[in-house]
Amino acid sequence: MKEVDVLVIGSGIAGLSYALKVADLLPTCKILVVAKASELETNTSYAQGGIAAVLNLLTDSYQKHVQDTMEAGAWLSNLAVAEAVVQEAPARIADLMDWGVAFDTTPSGAFHLGREGGHSENRILHCKDQTGYSLEKALSQQVLLRPNIEVLSHHFAVDLITFNQGEAGPSCHGALLLDLGNQQLVKVLSRITMLATGGAGQVYQATTNPVIATGDGVAMAHRAGATVEHLEFVQFHPTALYHPGEKPSFLVSEAVRGFGGILRNAAGEAFMVRYDSRGCLAPRDIVARAIEAEMKKEQAVCMFLDVTHLDSDDFAAHFPTIYQKCLSIGVDPARQCIPVVPAAHYFCGGVTTDAWGRTSIQHLYASGECACTGLHGANRLASNSLQEALVFAHRSSADTCAKLEDTTLLDPIPAWQAPMVRSQPENLSQISRIREKIQAMMSQGAGIVRCIEELTELHQKLSQLAIEVEAMVRKYGASLELGELNNLRTVAQLVTDAALSRKESIGLHYLAPDPVPLQAIDRIAIV
Ligand code: FAD
Ligand code: SIN
Repeated sequence: MKEVDVLVIGSGIAGLSYALKVADLLPTCKILVVAKASELETNTSYAQGGIAAVLNLLTDSYQKHVQDTMEAGAWLSNLAVAEAVVQEAPARIADLMDWGVAFDTTPSGAFHLGREGGHSENRILHCKDQTGYSLEKALSQQVLLRPNIEVLSHHFAVDLITFNQGEAGPSCHGALLLDLGNQQLVKVLSRITMLATGGAGQVYQATTNPVIATGDGVAMAHRAGATVEHLEFVQFHPTALYHPGEKPSFLVSEAVRGFGGILRNAAGEAFMVRYDSRGCLAPRDIVARAIEAEMKKEQAVCMFLDVTHLDSDDFAAHFPTIYQKCLSIGVDPARQCIPVVPAAHYFCGGVTTDAWGRTSIQHLYASGECACTGLHGANRLASNSLQEALVFAHRSSADTCAKLEDTTLLDPIPAWQAPMVRSQPENLSQISRIREKIQAMMSQGAGIVRCIEELTELHQKLSQLAIEVEAMVRKYGASLELGELNNLRTVAQLVTDAALSRKESIGLHYLAPDPVPLQAIDRIAIV
């Protein structure tokens, strides 16, 4: 058993920035950060385009960034949250720079600001096309400098330790971890717990998310009785590299379109102008739907991103990772169009929080992609998520410190029992077969364009699978593979049920009749 003041589950931007803030505000506070894989294996590390912030008030304004956020989110975003994130963003960029992040600058020394879909101005700070890796590295180096932060990698959080305090509702007192080195369970008791477990792209067949993104935090919080919301809003990135067999899908950043890249169909037509006046830089839901419609119409396996008209040295200098990746699969962006397809990318919904990152469970906060703060509404504006994680980690750290003063470490936990654990080897092939089945079913039934009939069928199939998976959990107890499978299944059900309850098309939740005649797709998709 371990006892800490603050337990942080997740070592991405949300978890690490929160841990750093709490560590600096309360140097005597004992903080434990856990990660189920290596510390750097996070969605954060793969972020390419950058982080949105209004830094040049001569050319841009907070109001415009708020407007773009609200518009991308189909006006389902919480306006007060959007205003807070946008206004606090410059201070959070300053934190990153204090922590050692060096954003790209122009020869004059100003920030080089990129552009992505849905933004009316250039306002994306970046470190070439490896922004996330630069952030993750800087944050983890800072963590090493704080003696009051301990990091445990390769520890899988199986479940939150909660118990119900009658009228006050459930409260959280830590988590049960599985040490993946020795397969032993570790009970961690904490006064405050921060869920920063990231996304759930692995619920789908094709995703830009690494294998760790299995929605564990959302599933754990849901099991513990926390409110979750907006899970129907799954964002598909329009331009993952089309490279069959590669998992996860490699991303071709939207910043490439911001740099002048043009989407074309097999006939070479720049089709986006038929769908939206903003063309290739329309918000992501619109571009992904247009690509899917074009692919259906042409019976094509991919669309194409054309950068051949751009200065190739300039392109390679701005996007070295993307450039090299294309070359590695035999596509020279200077001469050939880059084949692209949409892939599951970001979960706009998650564990409901208030403006301080507090969930509906006492002593439990959530931040980053596993949280639903209200910022993204029905569709996240590009490059708003890294910023959201920073702003909410900062806000939650202040609230945590106030709360720690009157929270004792150990409330009595009389009735809490650890889940059964057995060390018997599990049927790994059965687990991976079910995982692939869920991914295929979700891609088919809850993808970019949905219909009630398919969602209903999906709901029924997932309910059947739930019986099977839950029986396996009862039989075999805790393990990484089975725990992740159960979490994926839970999130798949939450997405499907949320999609079934939302009867109208809005943002990323797009309903079409089934089967969809091709001409109807065209008509529906044209805005
Ligand atoms: P993550 O960075 O994913 O970290 C999750 C952490 O939780 C990991 O340490 C993991 O090990 C841990 N964890 C999960 N489950 C458990 C468990 N059960 N037990 C223990 N530990 C657990 N957003 C932008 O704003 N700009 C971009 O340019 C951008 N580009 C992107 C490009 C790609 C390819 C991808 C995939 C995403 C991109 N995003 C971008 C989205 C953004 O990167 C993520 O939303 C953000 O990094 C999430 O941060 P996080 O801290 O919430 O989670
Ligand atoms: C990208 O670089 O296209 C990803 C940006 C994001 O997901 O916000």
